[in-house]
Amino acid sequence: MTVYSSPATPPRKALSILDLAAMKQRGEKISCLTAYDASFSALLDKVGIDVMLVGDSLGMVIQGASSTIPVTVEQMVYHCRCVSQARQRGFVIADLPFLSYATVTAAVQNAGRLMQEGGAQMIKLEGAHAEIIRFLVDFGVPVCGHLGLLPQSINQLGSYKVRGKEQPEADKIIADAQALEQAGISLLILECVPAALAKTISLLLKIPVIGIGAGVDCDGQVLVLYDMLGISLGKRPRFSRDFLQEAGSIEAAIAHYHHQVKNSLFPAVEHSY
Ligand code: KIV
Repeated sequence: MTVYSSPATPPRKALSILDLAAMKQRGEKISCLTAYDASFSALLDKVGIDVMLVGDSLGMVIQGASSTIPVTVEQMVYHCRCVSQARQRGFVIADLPFLSYATVTAAVQNAGRLMQEGGAQMIKLEGAHAEIIRFLVDFGVPVCGHLGLLPQSINQLGSYKVRGKEQPEADKIIADAQALEQAGISLLILECVPAALAKTISLLLKIPVIGIGAGVDCDGQVLVLYDMLGISLGKRPRFSRDFLQEAGSIEAAIAHYHHQVKNSLFPAVEHSY
């Protein structure tokens, strides 16, 4: 197989929200991976990964919890600071963890901490909370929405299965995506939805749509870093792929992922629903 290496001199200018919007406009796929520490942040940056998501998935892959529920704002701020300090180019998004945006006041305070102390350029929150999003956006907080499978709702959902397979739920996800765009989100993550639904939403929205388990037609892709390196605890999800197994080094694995996303080669049909 071809071994992909990092570009020798990737551009060092920090990406902004405008660069991500421009990528969608010119049809360039956005590559994104989760990151939780400075070493991986620097490596992702070296390879040219566009977006680093400090995901609350750190509860599972760093802390060994069975869900993202136990993750605190304090922990998110800590990991976000580790990532943002080491990056030069990649755009840093941080998750607001479980119940940290249940009221407008909490959302503003906690988003403020992630941006001021953690160095996040954008915050992400799960679900169709248009009112809270509108408020954050009005006060200058860039927001990434997250629809489809919502891991913070696992105790209500009961399982991590694909969402939007039936028409009524698919219609609701489309309506929610449009409402969130209206409310001012700048980016949307769609998790574990049928590829056809993700394609419809990506075409409908003007903002970039980043998929995870959502097919190849999204405007970009994200994976949990430890899943795509094959080192997560437990079974790797069907939508992910062990890039390290094929690459031989961590840097080559990440570079291969980046190349596959940029060229619409990942995800393949077998990683999609
Ligand atoms: O927390 C996380 O890593 C995420 C991704 C799965 C999108 O939200």
